[in-house]
This record gives sequence, C-alpha cells and structure tokens, in this order.
Amino acid sequence: MDLSRSAAWSALVSHKHEIDKLHMRELFLKDDSRFKRFSISWGELILDYSKNRITSQTIELLLGLVRQSGLEIMRREMFDGEAINFTEHRSVLHTALRRPPGYSLQIDGLEISEEISDVLRQMKGCCKSIISGKWKGYTGKVMTDIVNIGIGGSDLGPCMVTEALRPFAHGGLQVHFVSNIDGTHISETLKKLNPETTLFIIASKTFTTQETLTNAMSAREWFLTHASNESHIAKHFVAVSTNRAKVVEFGIDEANMFRFWDWVGGRYSLWSSIGLSIALYLGFDRFQELLNGANAMDEHFLNAPLEGNIPVLLAVLGIWYNNFFDVSSHAVIPYDQYMHRFPAYLQQLDMESNGKRVNRQGSTVEYATGPVIWGEPGTNSQHAFFQLLHQGPNFIPADFIVPLKTQNPVGEHHDILLANCFAQTEALMKGKDEHEVQSELELAGCDPSELTTLLPHKVFPGNRPTNTILINELNPFTLGSLIAMYEHKVFVQGIIWEVNSFDQWGVELGKQLAKTIFPEIQGSETVASHDGSTNALINAYREYRLKEKIAASPQLSFFDEP
Ligand code: F6P
Repeated sequence: MDLSRSAAWSALVSHKHEIDKLHMRELFLKDDSRFKRFSISWGELILDYSKNRITSQTIELLLGLVRQSGLEIMRREMFDGEAINFTEHRSVLHTALRRPPGYSLQIDGLEISEEISDVLRQMKGCCKSIISGKWKGYTGKVMTDIVNIGIGGSDLGPCMVTEALRPFAHGGLQVHFVSNIDGTHISETLKKLNPETTLFIIASKTFTTQETLTNAMSAREWFLTHASNESHIAKHFVAVSTNRAKVVEFGIDEANMFRFWDWVGGRYSLWSSIGLSIALYLGFDRFQELLNGANAMDEHFLNAPLEGNIPVLLAVLGIWYNNFFDVSSHAVIPYDQYMHRFPAYLQQLDMESNGKRVNRQGSTVEYATGPVIWGEPGTNSQHAFFQLLHQGPNFIPADFIVPLKTQNPVGEHHDILLANCFAQTEALMKGKDEHEVQSELELAGCDPSELTTLLPHKVFPGNRPTNTILINELNPFTLGSLIAMYEHKVFVQGIIWEVNSFDQWGVELGKQLAKTIFPEIQGSETVASHDGSTNALINAYREYRLKEKIAASPQLSFFDEP
C-alpha cells in the first residue's frame, strides 16, 4: 500500500488541521515545560526542537510513521552489512568505518574490520611520514601543501571538515581542494603552489569521473613541466579509490594507493581513506576523534528509544513539514564561520540520497521525498535571505547550529553572534502581531494614515519552526557526531519514504549527454542532432570558438573548418 494511504499518514493529515489552529507563541505561554519536553541533551550536544509546530500528540503520530516503516529492521540490516542498496547490489557500511576494531563482519569473504584497520594503519603511516618531514619531494624538500582533487563525495566532506576544523590543524600543511572541471579552479589553485613541496591526492571512488581525471591530468602536466621526470610522480601523487586497475593505468604507483570499498557510498566516504586530506591536515589522532564522534552518534541512533532518538526526531520533523505542510525547502544556518561549507556538504548528503521519485518497489510515489537543502552561516544570512524566512508567504523550517565556545574570542563578537542566533529563532517563533505593531508605531508618534499604510508591512506572522542544535565546542569529536546525526536523519527519512537512499542514478543522464556533446563541440560539423535549443546553444559556442581561432590565426576565414 502507498505510504500516503496508510493509517498513520491519514492520522497526520487530520492532525494537521488541529495544529493549523495553534500558534507556537500560545503553546509556549501555556506550557512552562515545553523546552524540557521537546529537547534532548546528549553528550556535548543539545537538540532543542521545542520551536516546532508540534504537540506531544504530533510526535506520537509521527513516530507512528517510523513504527510502520520497519526502521528497526532496516537499521539493523544496514549495520550488519545486508545489501540494502539493492539497485547496486551493495551493502551500506560507512558506520563500520568508525566502529572500534575487534568486531567481526564478513563482506564478500573479507573480514572488513581487518581491512579497515589495515587502511587506517596505512593512512596513519602516511600522515606520520609527511607531517614529520620524512617524506621528501623530488628536490629533497618536505611537503608544505596538499591538494585533494575529487568531486561530490570525494570533495565535499573532506573540504567541509578541514574548513570546520581549521583551528585543530597542526599547522605544518596547507590543504586545497580542486573539484570543478572549470579550468579556473585548478589554475587558481596551482598559482599558489610550489611543485617541489606539493602532494596531490587524486580522490575518486570509481576513478572514472571526468572532472577528477581531467583535473588530475592537468595537475600531472603542471607538475611535469617543473619536475621533468616521470619517476618523480611517485613522490607527489597518491590515489584514493576502489579501482586499483584505473589508478595504475593513470600512472600512480600501487604503493601510493589508499583503497576503500564499494560498500562505502561516495557521499558517506569521508570516514574512509577519502578522509586522507583531513588526516594529513589535522593529524591522524584528530581524524580518529572525528571517527569516534561519529561512532558515538551511531550508538545513540542504534540504542536510544525512538522518542529520545535525535536523528529519528529530526527526520520526522522534516517529514512533518515536507509532506503535511507542502514545504519544499529546509534551511541550515550554522552560527559558526568555520562551518561555511556545511550546507553544501548536506546538500549532497540529503538531496542525492532521497531525491527519488520511485519507491523500493519501483512505483512512483505520491508524496515529496526530501526538501531542497540550502543555507549560509549566520549572521551573514540574516542580511541576505532572512527577510523571506520571516515574512515570505510560506514558512521554511530551519536548523540553527551553534557552538557555545568560540575559537576566536575577540571582544564581544561571540556574545553578539549568539544573541543574534537566539533572537532569530525567537522572532521566527513569536512573530509580531498587528496589535504589537500598532502600539509600537503609536509610541513612535506615527500619524494615523501612515500607520494604516505601514501596519501590514510590519507584521510578522511567526509560528515558523526551527531546531536549534547547541554544541559545547566545534571539535573533531562533536563534528563527527553532527555529521553522523544528519546521515542517520537522511537514512530514517529514506526508510519512511520507502526509497533507496544509497543509489544516485539521477546523475547519470547528464553525464551521458555531456559525453555526446563534447566531441560535437570540437567537431567540424554544425550540430543538428538535438532539440532546437540544445543545437543552438552548442552551435553558438562552436561559432565563438571559431571566431577565437580566426582572431588567433588571421589566415583562417570564418568559413574554414575549425
Ligand atoms: O556524480 C555523482 C557522484 O557519483 C557522487 O555520488 C560521487 O560522490 C561523485 O560523483 C564522485 O564520484 P567518484 O568518487 O567516483 O569520482
């Protein structure tokens, strides 16, 4: 039966009519214990979900969706290595990457805890050798810069984590990330670097991704124009991949390859050797703390009862708005400048996982599966899009992520930052009604006709939901927990929506078409094989290229083949 026809779903549809009549402002006024009832304190993290359009009954009904979804079984299957990614016939075992060693789990005949320990040892050795300066470049100098070349999950996670944990870096290495095929990305990065002291990490699960391999080739050419001798590549290029054959074909020494496994999804791979840039930048022990933090959240997710389970609650609150209020986006606002890449990272995690239109049986679903995730750090975002959050016609739920401790205690900055954060969630919840606006304007001496004009523009409807996630300090452990929390939120939502959260077929069509268009752009024929729009766009670019060529070599005429 379609989920949207289930009894639990129908109960929520009816319940929504009751909730429509309530304003959170009233709910807080009537209930002193609302924060206590709707918040969870876990380790160094507090989740305050009291500023949501919920009552205890809402949570009970939402947990009804969880109970009917078979979450407990699917969760067990994921942790135990069942091939729950059934469209790719793969287990989903990113959680094993952060589990303390000593357990036994066999996948494809391999004891994976041993496999994981081996790779962690290799990463640790690499970190030691590079950070200590034992690893020397082709002119005998120590490494000063690491460049991670990868895209999607082979970029976003490590990039976000290294930015977020910059205060924890040991300081001996700079780290750079090149992902975009736009030549600007690699060019601007290479400008800052010395080939004698730069180590490139070519990070690609498949080692077939066009962007990564093209950027890697350009890095290789740049390196060789300086180093001249191909034998020097071994000292400056390492690979992280599941595809040994392709790594070797690319010319990277097998000894410099860090493997991982196809049971680690790209967007879940920062815990694997894809995290090598993190480990090098922070030091291996810090990387281990990141894993430990994630493992602590895994334990919580596995063992906490549903009503006290942080990822489960975040998941059902998301579903509440996405499916029952038809809200199609969700903002993530870290009040920490170091977390500026966190929303971008979450976009892939959430949207690539659950942006699916068919359920596990292959039937088209009749409900939304996941919002658009977006966001920017506060307070910058307050001066950009918060107008819409406060007074736009529909509401957009938001997560506010706030470390209590600042890494940069400058004057009163942190107190002002947090004052703003708490003020925003209060304002979104309470709003300001006509009566309050009128009194304010009268007090300011506004004349009656001006008051009538201004009044509707100054009203804030309020009743706009937010979650606040307080953490004592943003450090490797708490960041690990935070990331795992969102991973499991996305997992729970995927289970409720009955989609496969672990494949990503939706990215394939564009890749295929680009492979057709690429030679057409470089070919000599006017392109006519696509629709009118696509033909015109391709031909406009072809003409531009031809004009550039003519300008560069005036002996060619416009009618010559390019
Ligand atoms: O294009 C989507 C995707 O397949 C992501 O899922 C993945 O993280 C990214 O490309 C990069 O893939 P790879 O690590 O194989 O280069």
